[in-house]
Amino acid sequence: MKIGLGSDHGGYELKEQIKVHLEENGYEVVDFGTHSGEAVDYPDAAAPVCIAVQNGEVDCGMLFCGTGIGISMSANKFKNIRAALCSDVYSAKMAKLHNNAQIICMGGRVTGRDLAFMIADTWLETEFEGGRHNRRIEKIHKIEEL
Ligand code: RB5
Repeated sequence: MKIGLGSDHGGYELKEQIKVHLEENGYEVVDFGTHSGEAVDYPDAAAPVCIAVQNGEVDCGMLFCGTGIGISMSANKFKNIRAALCSDVYSAKMAKLHNNAQIICMGGRVTGRDLAFMIADTWLETEFEGGRHNRRIEKIHKIEEL
């Protein structure tokens, strides 16, 4: 599985930690930056990961900013992208099980490293339940036509 990573400066450190964790667990990672703690704008950080998910270059993505809020707001503006801001393990599980989120977002100034690892692992290991949830997901994307 190929995972795209992206962050602004607020999420940079957590992205770097997650990258090591994922690689240690055998995942292939594509790091779309940022590559230092220098300030960058979170919509710019979200874009390459969302585009890579849209065009199938990566299977899924993880995005990080200070709170996870700005980068998740940005990601959800991309057509067909479902990005879930997660700061607990239950939400990470449900984000895949019910919402089939292709991207999870976390706040580098909110979520500690070890919890972030559990959130990432839970989301990656959970399978979408399908069924009635497909209808609801289709309705999310109908909103993009309004
Ligand atoms: C940057 O200071 C900060 O605003 C950003 O990382 C994020 O938290 C925005 O939602």
